[in-house]
Amino acid sequence: MKVQGHSGLRVGARMNEARKGLPKERGSQMRGVTSLGLVLIIAAAFVIAQPQSRAEMGWWDDQSPRSAAGDSKQGKATAQAVCAGCHGADGNSSDPRYPKLAGQSETYIYRQLQSFKMGGRKSDIMADIVKALSDADMANVASFYSQERVQPDAIADAGLAALGQDIFFAGVGSGMMSACVMCHGRHGVEQGMPMMGMMGDAPRLNGQHAAYIVDQLNRFSSGERQSDIMGDIASALTEMDRKAVAEFLSGLR
Ligand code: HEC
Ligand code: HEC
Repeated sequence: MKVQGHSGLRVGARMNEARKGLPKERGSQMRGVTSLGLVLIIAAAFVIAQPQSRAEMGWWDDQSPRSAAGDSKQGKATAQAVCAGCHGADGNSSDPRYPKLAGQSETYIYRQLQSFKMGGRKSDIMADIVKALSDADMANVASFYSQERVQPDAIADAGLAALGQDIFFAGVGSGMMSACVMCHGRHGVEQGMPMMGMMGDAPRLNGQHAAYIVDQLNRFSSGERQSDIMGDIASALTEMDRKAVAEFLSGLR
């Protein structure tokens, strides 16, 4: 997978400059990424978790609706009353401890709220919040935030972001891990691979706070946040890889 020359990237030019200073090994490692890795991960996606464990983790089972289909006007009222203090009135939180929700996939937001409620995803703060929310409240607020526009952060370290760009588009290691872009998409409008229906539920990562991304990758890797898919992927990333891919994504529109 060729990663250089992505014209749509705001930080592209600056990062291509910075890339020249990167160690050579990273480049040749990247070229080792083969389609075998992609095939393996697609295969893995089809045999993923039996319904029971999927429910425990907050995954949809076969009966679950594919879309939350909420009322965004109602959702806006809930967002302003309950969520804005942490996530921002338009979903662009200023404090990196709180993830941005603006432009996030509606299904993903709804699914995470359900997961906080069922305890599949653990967060004391969010567990308290969702206690007071009905299914309709969750669908409505998911609909509202998904329609807002994410504001990316400024890239603080262009060299680090360039390394992260390679990881996002090409993966790491010798082709055993697929590229993040396959499931997460390049930005809000180009979401993952259409052939993998289930991956439509993968969160958008463009513009997300770098510190939040690193924190979640650490939790996937330690198993504190359960995910059959992300557990192995996050574990394959070094601490530097996690910081780099987070730095890149935080500035991506
Ligand atoms: C007191 C602060 C606070 C409030 C209020 C709050 N949240 Fe959160 N929210 C958090 C924190 C902290 C996390 C990160 C949880 C974690 O992974 O540990 C989070 C995570 C989330 C996530 C997961 C995002 C992702 O990218 O995975 C969603 C969705 C979410 N909140 C929605 C909401 C909604 C909707 C409301 C209002 C109904 C709300 N939150 C109110 C603090 C808050
Ligand atoms: C095979 C598909 C797939 C690939 C490849 C993949 N992801 Fe994910 N990722 C997912 C899914 C699905 C979730 C949602 C997990 C859940 O339900 O909690 C996720 C969740 C995440 C989250 C949590 C976001 C949030 O808002 O809380 C981060 C961060 C993340 N992935 C980063 C990455 C990075 C970095 C890579 C590449 C190194 C990557 N992912 C590769 C499917 C994938």
